[in-house]
Amino acid sequence: MTTNNNHLTTSWGAPVGDNQNSLTAGRRGPTLIQDVHLLEKLAHFNRERVPERVVHAKGAGAHGYFEVTNDLSAYTKASFLSEVGKRTPMFIRFSTVAGELGSADTVRDPRGFAVKFYTEEGNYDLVGNNTPVFFIRDAIKFPDFIHTQKRHPQTHLKNPNAVWDFWSLSPESLHQVTILMSDRGIPATLRHMHGYGSHTFKWVNAEGQAVWVKYHFKTEQGVQNLDVDLAAKLAGENPDYHTEDLFNAIDKGDFPAWTLYVQIMPLEDADTYRFDPFDVTKVWSQKDYPLIEVGRMVLDRNPDNYFAEVEQATFSPGNFVPGIEASPDKMLQGRLFAYSDAHRYRVGANHNQLPINRPVSPVNNKQRDGFMRGDGNGGSGTYYEPNSFGGAAEAPQHKIAPFEVSGTADSVAYDHDDHYTQPGDLYRLLSEEERTRLVRNIVGAMSPVERDDIKLRQIGHWYKADPELGERIAEGLGLSVPQGV
Ligand code: HEM
Repeated sequence: MTTNNNHLTTSWGAPVGDNQNSLTAGRRGPTLIQDVHLLEKLAHFNRERVPERVVHAKGAGAHGYFEVTNDLSAYTKASFLSEVGKRTPMFIRFSTVAGELGSADTVRDPRGFAVKFYTEEGNYDLVGNNTPVFFIRDAIKFPDFIHTQKRHPQTHLKNPNAVWDFWSLSPESLHQVTILMSDRGIPATLRHMHGYGSHTFKWVNAEGQAVWVKYHFKTEQGVQNLDVDLAAKLAGENPDYHTEDLFNAIDKGDFPAWTLYVQIMPLEDADTYRFDPFDVTKVWSQKDYPLIEVGRMVLDRNPDNYFAEVEQATFSPGNFVPGIEASPDKMLQGRLFAYSDAHRYRVGANHNQLPINRPVSPVNNKQRDGFMRGDGNGGSGTYYEPNSFGGAAEAPQHKIAPFEVSGTADSVAYDHDDHYTQPGDLYRLLSEEERTRLVRNIVGAMSPVERDDIKLRQIGHWYKADPELGERIAEGLGLSVPQGV
């Protein structure tokens, strides 16, 4: 008898005769170890979970394409940006930051905005957020910062004391905290928010000339945010609200789209700009460096399987393609290590072979073996370099653009300590209603902090950003702005 294609089988492909009743010794006897189908079924079930992402655990993903609408090949030799009309398949994963895999979507948190472009020269990952800046600007502070966002080691509760203690002691966070506490802190849906690369990156053209760039994805759906009371209600009633909205929109053919723009800064301006352009807590003025259109991203296909495509997706800020390189941003530099390391731990050393992560271009490295090696493992091809037997060889034309470094090795702070002008400007740009909601959100978030010295330290920062903002928050908390701020 041959096996019917529609038979239920074991993982080794043999047909299963009974999937409802386990094999027992007699009608009431104990279960037999001989029921290998049962053993395999229980054992595999125990291994269904991989570790969730240490941050950005809750997410939703979609497939789509990126189409170039403006030729910027004068600035970058990246092949996927080389001509107007060129389309590149991509995958995006949106996420919240602090919550666990099952946490609610409609919380106040930045949203991850991680894009993988499957280019003909390898995968290019742009792993950004829905905010143009970040809380800190040196990777060495990241584990401490995230500890304050996660649960207390004893109570296993979220801990506002830690959150505001850390932020008030790290005033570089003020700009991002102001954005987070504004209406944009809770987007209406994942479709109604902008995305940013946040860091400064380097673009290099075919002649080897370089510029600094920042990426902005502008939502074509328009920015919309959630009312805080509605958000709280939804968090209880439909914790997967954003995930559901994205899936349903794409499912019914209402494909969300974003226009990608870049700001371009000549290389030499970095030495004289009024603040350090590699400081990820600051935005570049669009008067100084206007937005230039690049192309359009459209999400038109839902994942077929959540685990295979969304959970196993691995994005790394270090996945560059020729024409796009790193900048000296100290956060970005740390991230160049952190992500692939997380992927080796979370998904395994061969994570790039999984269909969602596999490049569409050929992969010709000399890496071999390892857990879950899923392809032909390089077959009988050469497995070291250089060699006298052929196979893939290095391509010197794709070396990174050389750049000069100088200075004394030391652990030094950024030389610019104005944490206040940009968050203050942001406050002054808001309408009166937006200011009132910002103050209400901040007061609500700071109220549970138990120690007044922490609250007063943070009020001092708001006051330095804008005296009116500081006064209003102090009043809301029943305190006074500290003397001498
Ligand atoms: C996820 C580390 C800063 C955006 C992650 C993950 C790690 C990490 C370990 C989990 C990766 C995984 O398991 O696949 C860090 C470190 C940072 C940093 C060490 C600072 C030095 C940032 C910044 C941004 C950002 C500045 C945005 C501008 C994201 C996003 C994800 C993520 C979007 C989720 C990616 C996905 O959807 O798979 N981060 N992060 N992170 N991070 Fe960061």
